[in-house]
Amino acid sequence: MHATARPGSSLARRILLTVGVALVALTGCDNSSTSASNNKATGANPAPGAQPAPVVAGGDILIGHYGSLTGAEATFGISTDNGIKLAVEEINAAGGVNIAGKSRKVALKSEDTEGKPEKAGTVVTKLVTADEVVAVIGEVASSVTLAGAPVAQQFGVPMITPSSTNPQCTAIGDMIFRVCFIDPFQGYACAKFAAQDLKVKKAAILFDQAAAYSVGLKDEFEKNFTKMGGQIVAVEAYTKGEANFNPLLTKIREKGAELLFIPGYYTDVANIALQARKLGMTMPLLGGDGWDSADLAKNGGAAIEGSFYSNHYASDQPTPEIQTFVKKYKEKFGETPDGLAALGYDAARVLFDAMQRAGTTDGSKLRDAIATTKDFKGVTGSISINEKRDAVKPAVIVEMKGGKPVFRARVEP
Ligand code: PHE
Repeated sequence: MHATARPGSSLARRILLTVGVALVALTGCDNSSTSASNNKATGANPAPGAQPAPVVAGGDILIGHYGSLTGAEATFGISTDNGIKLAVEEINAAGGVNIAGKSRKVALKSEDTEGKPEKAGTVVTKLVTADEVVAVIGEVASSVTLAGAPVAQQFGVPMITPSSTNPQCTAIGDMIFRVCFIDPFQGYACAKFAAQDLKVKKAAILFDQAAAYSVGLKDEFEKNFTKMGGQIVAVEAYTKGEANFNPLLTKIREKGAELLFIPGYYTDVANIALQARKLGMTMPLLGGDGWDSADLAKNGGAAIEGSFYSNHYASDQPTPEIQTFVKKYKEKFGETPDGLAALGYDAARVLFDAMQRAGTTDGSKLRDAIATTKDFKGVTGSISINEKRDAVKPAVIVEMKGGKPVFRARVEP
C-alpha cells in the first residue's frame, strides 16, 4: 500500500480531518497528554481545529506517540513514552533539531491506546489530522500497531514502531518503519537458546491466540526448535486476561516437557507462572520481549525466578551507550529503564537524525531519510533500516534472578 494523501499536504489532511474528529467524537474520549521537554513552556503551537495546543518553549515541530499508557500492558506505553521524553529533552537542550541551518525545538503529543487495537485508528487519526504531527512513534504491541499503521500510511505521515516485532507491521506500507528486530529472528533466538544453551529436548508452548505477536512467535519458535532437533510435546492457546490457566496447564503437565515457552505479555505470563508452580510444574519458562516489565517480577515473584526471555537490550551490559542511558534515565525517572524505554529513546533519536538529514519535516522526504538510516548508534545496538523498513540487530537472553533480568546470552542474526 502506498500513501494516498499527498505527503505533507495539509489540504488532504484537512479533508480527512472531518473523519478524525468524527471518530474521536464517536468514542468520546480524549486521553491525550502533551509534554514539552522543559517546563518553562512559553509558546503555543496551534494547529487548525486542534485540541488545546501543545506547548514547548520555541517548539515548532510536533511529533506524536500512541501507546498503552493504561491497561494490562501499561508499562509498555509508559516506558516508551519516558524514553521518547528523554530523547526530546536532550535534543532540545542541545538547541533542537537542526533543519536546513535553523534550530527547531521538538514537542511531543502522546495518546493512550489502552493496549487495544480498536483504539489505535482513532488516536492515530487524531494525532495526524487534529494535531498535525509530522511523524508518529508507536505502538508497542504488534496487534495495536497493525491497526494504527494504516492510518499513518493513508495520510502520508512517517511512523516508527519502536518495538513491534511481527513482520506484518512494516508491510502495511512504505511510511512504516521499526527500529527493532522481527519475530522470525526472535523465535530463532529463543529456540537456539533452548536447544543449545539449556539443552532442552522437549518443550511445550502456551500462547495467546488473539495476539499477532504471540501467534507469530509461537510459529517461529516451533519451526526453529524442531529444526534444531527438539520436539514440541504440547501446544495450548489462551486468550489475554484469562483468570484460570489451570485446565491448559494441567494438559501440558502430563506431556513431559522440560521447558514451557510462553510468547505472551507480562501480565498473563505472571499469572501463568504462579498457577503453573501451584500445579507442581517446576520447569524453566521461556518467553520473548513481551515479558519485559518490572511488573513481571512484582506480580510473579518466586514463580518467575530462573526463567528466561529474549529482549532488545540488557540494562546490566557494561557498554558506554547502555550505561550512559541507564544513568540519565534513572536520574529523570527514578527507575532502571526496560527495553521499551531504550527502544522509545532510539526510535525518537533515529527520527531526529532523519529530520536533520532530510532538512525538512515533509512526509515523503522524511520517509526517504528514515529509510536510509545506516549504522545509527542506538542504546539497543546499531540500527540500519533494510529494504523491508526493519532493523536487523542481535537479541539478548536474560534470566530472572532476584526479581531482575540479568544478561545471560547474546544471539546474532
Ligand atoms: N514485540 C512485542 C510485540 O510485537 C512488543 C514488545 C516489545 C513488548 C518489547 C515488550 C518489549 O507485540
